[in-house]
Amino acid sequence: MKSISVALVGCGRISEKHFEALLNLKQDYTITSVCDTVQENLEKAVQLTGAKGYLNYETLLENEHPDLVVLCTPSGLHARQGVLAARKGFHVLSEKPMATKLKDADELIKACDQAGVRLFVVKQNRLNSTIQLLKKAIDKNRFGKIFMVEVNVFWTRPQSYYDAAKWRGTWEFDGGAFLNQASHYVDLLSWLIGPVESVSAMTGTLARKIEAEDTGAAVFRYRNGAIGTMNVTMLTYPKNLEGSITVMGEKGTVRIGGIAVNDIRHWEFDSYDDDDKAVETSSYKVESVYGFGHLGYYKNVADALLRGHDPNTDGREGRKSLELIEAIYLSAKEKRFVNLPL
Ligand SMILES: NC(=O)c1ccc[n+]([C@@H]2O[C@H](COP(=O)([O-])OP(=O)(O)OC[C@H]3O[C@@H](n4cnc5c(N)ncnc54)[C@H](O)[C@@H]3O)[C@@H](O)[C@H]2O)c1
Repeated sequence: MKSISVALVGCGRISEKHFEALLNLKQDYTITSVCDTVQENLEKAVQLTGAKGYLNYETLLENEHPDLVVLCTPSGLHARQGVLAARKGFHVLSEKPMATKLKDADELIKACDQAGVRLFVVKQNRLNSTIQLLKKAIDKNRFGKIFMVEVNVFWTRPQSYYDAAKWRGTWEFDGGAFLNQASHYVDLLSWLIGPVESVSAMTGTLARKIEAEDTGAAVFRYRNGAIGTMNVTMLTYPKNLEGSITVMGEKGTVRIGGIAVNDIRHWEFDSYDDDDKAVETSSYKVESVYGFGHLGYYKNVADALLRGHDPNTDGREGRKSLELIEAIYLSAKEKRFVNLPL
Protein backbone atom coordinates (compact mmCIF):
# COMPACT_ATOMS: atom_id res chain seq x y z
CA MET A 1 0.00 0.00 0.00
CA LYS A 2 1.54 3.36 -1.06
CA SER A 3 -1.29 5.62 0.04
CA ILE A 4 -4.48 4.97 1.97
CA SER A 5 -7.89 5.24 0.32
CA VAL A 6 -10.57 6.29 2.81
CA ALA A 7 -14.34 5.86 3.03
CA LEU A 8 -15.73 8.21 5.69
CA VAL A 9 -19.15 7.46 7.19
CA GLY A 10 -21.15 10.06 9.14
CA CYS A 11 -20.56 13.58 7.81
CA GLY A 12 -21.69 15.55 10.88
CA ARG A 13 -19.87 17.83 13.34
CA ILE A 14 -16.71 15.86 14.06
CA SER A 15 -16.23 14.79 10.43
CA GLU A 16 -14.99 18.34 9.78
CA LYS A 17 -11.90 17.61 11.90
CA HIS A 18 -11.34 14.38 9.97
CA PHE A 19 -11.70 16.01 6.55
CA GLU A 20 -9.35 18.81 7.59
CA ALA A 21 -6.69 16.33 8.75
CA LEU A 22 -7.09 13.99 5.76
CA LEU A 23 -6.94 16.83 3.23
CA ASN A 24 -3.80 18.08 5.00
CA LEU A 25 -2.13 14.71 4.59
CA LYS A 26 -2.71 14.23 0.86
CA GLN A 27 0.60 12.42 0.44
CA ASP A 28 -0.75 9.57 2.58
CA TYR A 29 -4.55 9.67 2.16
CA THR A 30 -7.19 9.96 -0.57
CA ILE A 31 -10.85 10.27 0.40
CA THR A 32 -12.57 8.12 -2.20
CA SER A 33 -16.09 7.85 -0.78
CA VAL A 34 -18.30 9.43 1.87
CA CYS A 35 -21.63 8.35 3.35
CA ASP A 36 -24.41 9.98 5.30
CA THR A 37 -28.09 9.17 5.59
CA VAL A 38 -28.94 12.89 5.48
CA GLN A 39 -28.78 14.26 1.92
CA GLU A 40 -27.71 17.76 2.98
CA ASN A 41 -24.77 16.51 5.08
CA LEU A 42 -23.72 14.15 2.30
CA GLU A 43 -23.77 16.88 -0.34
CA LYS A 44 -21.58 19.16 1.77
CA ALA A 45 -19.03 16.37 2.22
CA VAL A 46 -19.05 15.49 -1.49
CA GLN A 47 -18.49 19.14 -2.40
CA LEU A 48 -15.61 19.46 0.06
CA THR A 49 -13.81 16.25 -0.83
CA GLY A 50 -14.81 15.46 -4.43
CA ALA A 51 -15.40 11.88 -3.23
CA LYS A 52 -18.26 9.62 -4.34
CA GLY A 53 -21.33 9.98 -2.09
CA TYR A 54 -23.55 7.23 -0.70
CA LEU A 55 -26.77 7.58 1.28
CA ASN A 56 -26.53 3.97 2.43
CA TYR A 57 -23.55 2.38 4.19
CA GLU A 58 -24.15 -1.18 2.99
CA THR A 59 -24.31 0.06 -0.62
CA LEU A 60 -20.96 1.80 -0.12
CA LEU A 61 -19.44 -1.41 1.20
CA GLU A 62 -20.80 -3.35 -1.82
CA ASN A 63 -19.41 -0.90 -4.37
CA GLU A 64 -16.17 0.47 -2.93
CA HIS A 65 -12.86 -1.04 -1.88
CA PRO A 66 -11.31 1.48 0.52
CA ASP A 67 -8.22 0.60 2.55
CA LEU A 68 -9.73 2.28 5.60
CA VAL A 69 -13.31 2.90 6.74
CA VAL A 70 -13.63 5.89 9.10
CA LEU A 71 -16.66 5.89 11.42
CA CYS A 72 -17.93 9.33 12.50
CA THR A 73 -21.49 8.16 13.05
CA PRO A 74 -23.35 8.13 16.41
CA SER A 75 -21.36 6.06 18.92
CA GLY A 76 -23.90 3.24 19.18
CA LEU A 77 -23.41 2.46 15.47
CA HIS A 78 -19.60 2.18 15.49
CA ALA A 79 -19.34 -1.49 16.48
CA ARG A 80 -21.97 -2.75 14.04
CA GLN A 81 -20.61 -0.68 11.15
CA GLY A 82 -17.04 -1.60 12.03
CA VAL A 83 -17.82 -5.32 12.03
CA LEU A 84 -19.32 -5.01 8.51
CA ALA A 85 -16.21 -3.19 7.25
CA ALA A 86 -13.84 -5.72 8.85
CA ARG A 87 -15.73 -8.62 7.26
CA LYS A 88 -15.12 -6.98 3.89
CA GLY A 89 -11.39 -6.87 4.70
CA PHE A 90 -11.16 -3.10 5.27
CA HIS A 91 -9.19 -1.52 8.14
CA VAL A 92 -11.41 0.36 10.61
CA LEU A 93 -10.93 3.73 12.35
CA SER A 94 -13.64 4.59 14.86
CA GLU A 95 -14.34 7.88 16.56
CA LYS A 96 -14.48 7.60 20.34
CA PRO A 97 -16.09 5.80 22.03
CA MET A 98 -15.66 2.66 19.91
CA ALA A 99 -19.05 1.41 21.18
CA THR A 100 -21.61 2.25 23.83
CA LYS A 101 -21.36 -1.23 25.39
CA LEU A 102 -18.31 -3.29 26.23
CA LYS A 103 -19.74 -6.43 24.65
CA ASP A 104 -20.16 -4.60 21.32
CA ALA A 105 -16.55 -3.34 21.55
CA ASP A 106 -15.41 -6.93 22.10
CA GLU A 107 -17.33 -8.08 19.01
CA LEU A 108 -15.65 -5.37 16.95
CA ILE A 109 -12.17 -6.30 18.24
CA LYS A 110 -12.89 -9.97 17.51
CA ALA A 111 -14.18 -9.26 14.00
CA CYS A 112 -11.06 -7.21 13.17
CA ASP A 113 -8.77 -9.92 14.58
CA GLN A 114 -10.56 -12.62 12.60
CA ALA A 115 -10.41 -10.60 9.38
CA GLY A 116 -6.75 -9.66 9.97
CA VAL A 117 -7.48 -5.92 9.69
CA ARG A 118 -6.35 -3.07 11.95
CA LEU A 119 -8.65 -1.24 14.34
CA PHE A 120 -7.90 2.35 15.41
CA VAL A 121 -9.86 4.36 18.00
CA VAL A 122 -9.52 8.16 18.04
CA LYS A 123 -8.11 9.46 21.36
CA GLN A 124 -6.57 12.67 20.10
CA ASN A 125 -6.21 14.29 23.54
CA ARG A 126 -3.31 11.95 24.30
CA LEU A 127 -1.39 13.94 21.70
CA ASN A 128 -1.86 17.38 23.36
CA SER A 129 1.60 18.87 23.98
CA THR A 130 0.65 19.44 27.64
CA ILE A 131 -0.43 15.82 28.14
CA GLN A 132 2.61 14.47 26.25
CA LEU A 133 4.87 16.37 28.66
CA LEU A 134 3.02 14.96 31.67
CA LYS A 135 3.19 11.45 30.23
CA LYS A 136 6.97 11.79 29.82
CA ALA A 137 7.33 12.92 33.45
CA ILE A 138 5.32 9.90 34.63
CA ASP A 139 7.25 7.48 32.39
CA LYS A 140 10.55 8.88 33.72
CA ASN A 141 9.21 8.22 37.24
CA ARG A 142 9.68 11.89 38.18
CA PHE A 143 6.68 11.77 40.55
CA GLY A 144 8.02 8.78 42.49
CA LYS A 145 4.99 7.09 43.98
CA ILE A 146 1.79 8.70 42.75
CA PHE A 147 -0.64 9.35 45.60
CA MET A 148 -3.59 11.22 44.15
CA VAL A 149 -5.11 12.25 40.83
CA GLU A 150 -8.00 14.63 40.28
CA VAL A 151 -9.80 15.20 36.99
CA ASN A 152 -12.49 17.85 36.48
CA VAL A 153 -14.62 18.36 33.39
CA PHE A 154 -16.84 21.39 34.00
CA TRP A 155 -18.42 22.09 30.64
CA THR A 156 -21.74 23.34 29.30
CA ARG A 157 -24.07 21.59 26.89
CA PRO A 158 -27.44 23.36 26.59
CA GLN A 159 -30.65 21.46 25.91
CA SER A 160 -30.45 22.66 22.29
CA TYR A 161 -27.22 20.65 21.83
CA TYR A 162 -29.01 17.44 22.82
CA ASP A 163 -32.13 18.33 20.83
CA ALA A 164 -30.08 18.93 17.66
CA ALA A 165 -29.64 15.17 17.08
CA LYS A 166 -31.97 12.46 18.32
CA TRP A 167 -29.16 10.08 19.30
CA ARG A 168 -27.57 12.43 21.83
CA GLY A 169 -28.02 11.48 25.46
CA THR A 170 -29.66 8.12 24.66
CA TRP A 171 -28.27 4.97 26.29
CA GLU A 172 -28.24 3.01 23.06
CA PHE A 173 -26.43 5.47 20.81
CA ASP A 174 -24.55 7.91 23.05
CA GLY A 175 -24.45 7.59 26.83
CA GLY A 176 -24.01 10.62 29.05
CA ALA A 177 -21.32 13.01 30.23
CA PHE A 178 -18.84 10.24 31.12
CA LEU A 179 -19.21 8.24 27.91
CA ASN A 180 -19.46 11.09 25.45
CA GLN A 181 -18.07 14.48 26.51
CA ALA A 182 -15.63 13.36 29.23
CA SER A 183 -14.52 10.05 27.75
CA HIS A 184 -11.11 11.45 26.72
CA TYR A 185 -10.56 12.37 30.36
CA VAL A 186 -11.47 8.88 31.58
CA ASP A 187 -8.93 7.63 29.03
CA LEU A 188 -6.26 9.92 30.51
CA LEU A 189 -6.95 8.58 34.01
CA SER A 190 -6.01 5.05 33.02
CA TRP A 191 -3.46 5.79 30.26
CA LEU A 192 -1.41 8.09 32.51
CA ILE A 193 -1.78 6.56 35.94
CA GLY A 194 -2.35 2.85 35.24
CA PRO A 195 -5.04 0.24 35.72
CA VAL A 196 -7.88 0.92 38.14
CA GLU A 197 -8.72 -1.73 40.73
CA SER A 198 -12.10 -0.48 41.91
CA VAL A 199 -14.49 2.40 41.38
CA SER A 200 -17.44 3.98 43.17
CA ALA A 201 -19.60 6.53 41.38
CA MET A 202 -22.76 8.62 41.51
CA THR A 203 -24.47 10.04 38.46
CA GLY A 204 -27.51 12.23 37.93
CA THR A 205 -29.66 13.67 35.19
CA LEU A 206 -30.17 16.95 36.99
CA ALA A 207 -31.31 19.40 34.34
CA ARG A 208 -31.25 18.13 30.75
CA LYS A 209 -34.08 16.13 29.23
CA ILE A 210 -31.97 13.10 28.25
CA GLU A 211 -31.85 9.42 29.25
CA ALA A 212 -28.22 9.36 30.41
CA GLU A 213 -26.40 11.52 32.99
CA ASP A 214 -25.51 15.20 32.66
CA THR A 215 -23.49 15.18 35.91
CA GLY A 216 -21.48 12.66 37.92
CA ALA A 217 -18.61 11.98 40.30
CA ALA A 218 -16.37 8.94 40.67
CA VAL A 219 -13.69 7.75 43.09
CA PHE A 220 -11.00 5.28 41.97
CA ARG A 221 -8.50 3.05 43.71
CA TYR A 222 -5.59 2.24 41.40
CA ARG A 223 -3.68 -1.04 41.44
CA ASN A 224 -0.54 0.98 42.26
CA GLY A 225 -2.28 2.25 45.40
CA ALA A 226 -3.09 5.79 44.18
CA ILE A 227 -6.54 7.28 44.77
CA GLY A 228 -8.28 9.23 42.02
CA THR A 229 -11.39 11.35 41.72
CA MET A 230 -13.30 12.61 38.72
CA ASN A 231 -16.02 15.27 38.64
CA VAL A 232 -18.04 15.85 35.51
CA THR A 233 -20.89 18.15 34.64
CA MET A 234 -22.38 19.50 31.44
CA LEU A 235 -24.36 22.09 33.43
CA THR A 236 -21.67 24.69 34.18
CA TYR A 237 -23.12 28.21 34.06
CA PRO A 238 -22.80 29.91 31.59
CA LYS A 239 -20.00 28.31 29.52
CA ASN A 240 -17.15 25.73 29.52
CA LEU A 241 -15.04 26.48 32.59
CA GLU A 242 -12.47 23.74 33.08
CA GLY A 243 -11.00 20.50 31.74
CA SER A 244 -8.18 19.69 34.13
CA ILE A 245 -5.96 17.03 35.63
CA THR A 246 -3.88 17.29 38.80
CA VAL A 247 -1.31 14.62 39.70
CA MET A 248 0.31 14.53 43.12
CA GLY A 249 3.24 12.24 43.88
CA GLU A 250 5.99 11.95 46.50
CA LYS A 251 8.45 14.00 44.39
CA GLY A 252 6.25 16.12 42.15
CA THR A 253 2.98 17.98 41.62
CA VAL A 254 1.49 18.93 38.25
CA ARG A 255 -1.76 20.64 37.39
CA ILE A 256 -2.89 21.06 33.80
CA GLY A 257 -6.00 23.16 33.37
CA GLY A 258 -7.64 25.53 30.94
CA ILE A 259 -10.95 24.46 29.39
CA ALA A 260 -9.41 21.34 27.80
CA VAL A 261 -6.13 20.41 29.57
CA ASN A 262 -4.38 23.03 27.41
CA ASP A 263 -2.65 25.11 30.07
CA ILE A 264 0.05 23.92 32.50
CA ARG A 265 -0.85 25.75 35.71
CA HIS A 266 1.61 24.09 38.07
CA TRP A 267 4.76 22.07 37.37
CA GLU A 268 7.06 21.24 40.26
CA PHE A 269 9.50 18.37 40.84
CA ASP A 270 12.25 17.74 43.37
CA SER A 271 14.94 17.68 40.68
CA TYR A 272 15.60 19.38 37.34
CA ASP A 273 15.00 17.73 33.96
CA ASP A 274 15.50 19.27 30.52
CA ASP A 275 11.76 18.73 29.90
CA ASP A 276 11.10 21.56 32.38
CA LYS A 277 12.21 24.00 29.67
CA ALA A 278 9.22 22.94 27.56
CA VAL A 279 6.60 23.84 30.19
CA GLU A 280 6.04 27.42 28.98
CA THR A 281 5.84 26.50 25.29
CA SER A 282 3.60 23.44 25.77
CA SER A 283 0.55 25.43 26.86
CA TYR A 284 -1.66 26.70 24.07
CA LYS A 285 -4.99 28.46 23.49
CA VAL A 286 -8.04 26.52 22.33
CA GLU A 287 -11.11 27.64 20.43
CA SER A 288 -13.00 24.40 20.95
CA VAL A 289 -12.62 21.56 23.43
CA TYR A 290 -11.78 19.10 20.59
CA GLY A 291 -8.18 20.43 20.41
CA PHE A 292 -5.86 19.96 17.45
CA GLY A 293 -5.11 16.26 17.82
CA HIS A 294 -6.87 14.77 14.79
CA LEU A 295 -3.98 15.70 12.46
CA GLY A 296 -1.42 14.05 14.74
CA TYR A 297 -3.71 11.08 15.15
CA TYR A 298 -3.97 10.53 11.38
CA LYS A 299 -0.19 10.92 11.01
CA ASN A 300 0.21 8.01 13.40
CA VAL A 301 -2.41 5.90 11.57
CA ALA A 302 -0.54 6.47 8.29
CA ASP A 303 2.73 5.56 10.02
CA ALA A 304 1.10 2.38 11.31
CA LEU A 305 -0.49 1.33 7.99
CA LEU A 306 2.27 2.42 5.61
CA ARG A 307 5.47 2.38 7.63
CA GLY A 308 5.02 -0.34 10.24
CA HIS A 309 4.90 1.90 13.35
CA ASP A 310 2.88 1.07 16.47
CA PRO A 311 -0.58 2.67 16.58
CA ASN A 312 -1.27 5.27 19.31
CA THR A 313 -4.63 3.75 20.20
CA ASP A 314 -5.78 0.45 18.80
CA GLY A 315 -8.98 -1.39 19.68
CA ARG A 316 -7.61 -2.86 22.91
CA GLU A 317 -6.45 0.57 24.11
CA GLY A 318 -9.83 2.06 23.19
CA ARG A 319 -11.55 -0.69 25.17
CA LYS A 320 -9.84 0.26 28.45
CA SER A 321 -11.67 3.55 28.98
CA LEU A 322 -14.96 1.99 27.86
CA GLU A 323 -14.54 -0.70 30.52
CA LEU A 324 -13.86 1.95 33.16
CA ILE A 325 -16.94 3.94 32.10
CA GLU A 326 -19.08 0.79 32.20
CA ALA A 327 -17.79 0.20 35.75
CA ILE A 328 -18.72 3.81 36.66
CA TYR A 329 -22.25 3.28 35.31
CA LEU A 330 -22.60 -0.07 37.08
CA SER A 331 -21.45 1.40 40.39
CA ALA A 332 -23.87 4.33 40.09
CA LYS A 333 -26.76 2.04 39.19
CA GLU A 334 -26.16 -0.58 41.89
CA LYS A 335 -24.83 1.87 44.52
CA ARG A 336 -21.70 -0.22 45.26
CA PHE A 337 -17.96 -0.41 44.63
CA VAL A 338 -17.21 -2.20 41.36
CA ASN A 339 -13.96 -4.14 40.88
CA LEU A 340 -12.08 -4.28 37.60
CA PRO A 341 -11.60 -5.99 35.23
CA LEU A 342 -15.34 -6.43 34.73
N1 LIG B 1 -12.80 12.92 19.21
C1 LIG B 1 -13.59 13.88 19.67
O1 LIG B 1 -13.16 14.79 20.38
C2 LIG B 1 -15.05 13.88 19.32
C3 LIG B 1 -15.78 15.07 19.38
C4 LIG B 1 -17.13 15.07 19.01
C5 LIG B 1 -17.74 13.87 18.65
N2 LIG B 1 -17.02 12.71 18.63
C6 LIG B 1 -17.66 11.44 18.29
O2 LIG B 1 -17.98 11.45 16.90
C7 LIG B 1 -19.21 10.74 16.65
C8 LIG B 1 -20.18 11.65 15.90
O3 LIG B 1 -20.43 12.81 16.66
P1 LIG B 1 -20.93 14.16 15.97
O4 LIG B 1 -20.93 15.19 17.04
O5 LIG B 1 -20.18 14.42 14.72
O6 LIG B 1 -22.45 13.76 15.63
P2 LIG B 1 -23.41 14.36 14.47
O7 LIG B 1 -24.79 13.99 14.86
O8 LIG B 1 -23.07 15.79 14.24
O9 LIG B 1 -22.95 13.55 13.17
C9 LIG B 1 -23.27 12.20 12.95
C10 LIG B 1 -23.56 12.03 11.47
O10 LIG B 1 -23.81 10.64 11.20
C11 LIG B 1 -24.89 10.55 10.28
N3 LIG B 1 -25.51 9.21 10.40
C12 LIG B 1 -26.35 8.75 11.35
N4 LIG B 1 -26.65 7.46 11.11
C13 LIG B 1 -25.98 7.10 10.01
C14 LIG B 1 -25.87 5.88 9.28
N5 LIG B 1 -26.53 4.78 9.67
N6 LIG B 1 -25.09 5.86 8.18
C15 LIG B 1 -24.42 6.97 7.77
N7 LIG B 1 -24.49 8.15 8.44
C16 LIG B 1 -25.26 8.21 9.54
C17 LIG B 1 -25.82 11.69 10.70
O11 LIG B 1 -26.71 12.04 9.68
C18 LIG B 1 -24.81 12.79 11.01
O12 LIG B 1 -24.50 13.57 9.87
C19 LIG B 1 -19.69 10.29 18.04
O13 LIG B 1 -19.29 8.97 18.26
C20 LIG B 1 -18.99 11.22 19.01
O14 LIG B 1 -18.76 10.65 20.29
C21 LIG B 1 -15.69 12.71 18.95
